[in-house]
Amino acid sequence: MQKQVWDTTSYQRDTGFVSVYGEGVLDWLRPVAGERILDLGCGDGALTHKIVASGADVLGVDSSPGFIETARAAGLSVQQVDAHDLQFEQEFDGVFSNAALHWMLQPETVVKGVARALKPQGRFVAEFGGFGNVAALTSVMRAVGAEMGGDTDLAAPWYFPTFSQYSSLLQAHGFSVVEATTFYRPTPLPTGVRSWLEVMRAPFFDQFGDRREEAYARVETALKPALCDVEGQWIADYVRLRFRAQLL
Ligand code: BEZ
Repeated sequence: MQKQVWDTTSYQRDTGFVSVYGEGVLDWLRPVAGERILDLGCGDGALTHKIVASGADVLGVDSSPGFIETARAAGLSVQQVDAHDLQFEQEFDGVFSNAALHWMLQPETVVKGVARALKPQGRFVAEFGGFGNVAALTSVMRAVGAEMGGDTDLAAPWYFPTFSQYSSLLQAHGFSVVEATTFYRPTPLPTGVRSWLEVMRAPFFDQFGDRREEAYARVETALKPALCDVEGQWIADYVRLRFRAQLL
């Protein structure tokens, strides 16, 4: 599977809402001064800054070199680390993650690493895509991929579990789920669906080579009745899973 490459400029311009919405899950973290917090999949560090503002001592980790460069240039303490390979041992009071866990395709390895990174009674607070997330977007990409003879698996390389699936995983690794919710969150795309597709799923379209533009056009046309309102505003069909879990 081709690796996702992040371009900070287009990420911030076209999907800057990710960190704005992420402020809701920060309220569930409730960091306090002096605590040590790990921001897992910190991206460009937009929310890491907010955790730092609480007075906590925060380390951000992300697998993208571009994001790490941006976050470090902004003065944050960050490391380029794959979330499947966390080497921390009982170092953190809390692990926080927004809109990142669905990119991590071996969730059991990730949860095991998070549990190891936390001090006893430490908390894991996160929000990410739940079952049914971006279902219209991915169904249409799959259909267009099949019509054009492409690899349909490139349409949706994400992990969107149900709440019961994810809570079983947490419990199997020593967590108790303290609060959790799943909710539908229609999400306006300020620069349209084409730029969302380019930022989030370029490898699907790149596979078509000189028919790439045709693939974008077909997907956009097929999505319009479902995701574009009468005023021309595109709205993505996001489903969120948010939880606060505590190590026993
Ligand atoms: C999400 O935040 O739900 C998401 C972002 C990109 C691709 C898929 C899901």
